[in-house]
Amino acid sequence: MTKVLRSVVTGVGGYLPDEVVTNADLAKFVDTSDEWIIERTGIRQRHRAAPDQAVSDLAVEAARRALVAAGKTAADVDLIVVGTTTPDLTFPAVATIVQRKLGCPIGVAFDVQAVCSGFVYALSAADGFVARGRSKCALVIGAETMTRLMDWTDRGTCVLFGDGAGAVVVEPMEGEGTTADRGLLGFALRADGTKQDLLYVDGGVSTNGQIGHLRMQGNQVFRHAVVNISEAVFAAAADAGIEVSDVDWFIPHQANQRILEGVAKRVGISHDKVISTVAEHANTSAASIPLALAKGVEDGRIKPGQMLLLEAMGGGLTWGACVIRL
Ligand code: UT7
Repeated sequence: MTKVLRSVVTGVGGYLPDEVVTNADLAKFVDTSDEWIIERTGIRQRHRAAPDQAVSDLAVEAARRALVAAGKTAADVDLIVVGTTTPDLTFPAVATIVQRKLGCPIGVAFDVQAVCSGFVYALSAADGFVARGRSKCALVIGAETMTRLMDWTDRGTCVLFGDGAGAVVVEPMEGEGTTADRGLLGFALRADGTKQDLLYVDGGVSTNGQIGHLRMQGNQVFRHAVVNISEAVFAAAADAGIEVSDVDWFIPHQANQRILEGVAKRVGISHDKVISTVAEHANTSAASIPLALAKGVEDGRIKPGQMLLLEAMGGGLTWGACVIRL
């Protein structure tokens, strides 16, 4: 059989800033309660970056851990793709700042802006380089400081988000072209710009020149999430040539416990195959999937060779899913 080049995840790392903000902390200044937040979302706490920590600092920590796990150094990295919606600066890209801070050699570095779907989109972008032999060692990072976009008087959004970063190292390896191969086996990416008003930030460089605040019609986003994500999950499985029942671990975007359970139920994945970090991390946007992946790998649940299914949905609307054999 003809050999094919696969993009293989060889190292995973996550980083959460030190400060933990509990639901009770938020209830001191916004009209909410621990009970409401847990019942409607599953969130118990979130991490918040220190005032002097930029998103690139979180990304660098996660990247360092992923490189160690892969047995690589910064000198090996020739491609950096960062999924983020909360960059240090309007430009340059966070990816080039990470490149400088890590001390990587001249290579390719750019950001992907697909909000909460950023990590799945970034993986697909990196696959376009790695699986064509154009990168020997890629860092794919999801990193966010979502707390910087919050309107702290809006209880419908400010309780939902947290900060953090997750990273993977992706390297090319020859496969047999079967579903037994390690690597990124299938994708389904989607966007529907007509739904912009459901989830957006009310500021930007070329409109009002402000950073702005996150605005969301939560129940409308919720309504779209389960149906849209489920369709993408089946499409990614078909793209990979697997059945959803072949999946060992389901690693969803961690927006809301009710959404990820709803998707798992709709696509027929049992409760014990779901990695959930919603309670401890809240919604870290593009960082949530690689952070959940890192947690599952670190605690020994996720093992090399297993089949993983990732999914996300966020502002745009954008959404998507990805099948990986680790
Ligand atoms: O990652 C990007 C994708 N984002 C998401 O996936 C988020 C999707 N949406 C959600 O997770 C849920 O819609 C929320 C958690 C945001 C809200 O849950 P819900 O069950 O859809 O509640 P709701 O928005 O319909 O609001 C129900 C009630 C409202 O009060 P009234 O109008 O019924 O009196 C809200 O004002 O809950 C109220 N409420 C709160 N109460 C206490 C909203 N936020 C809070 C709060 N504490 N933090």
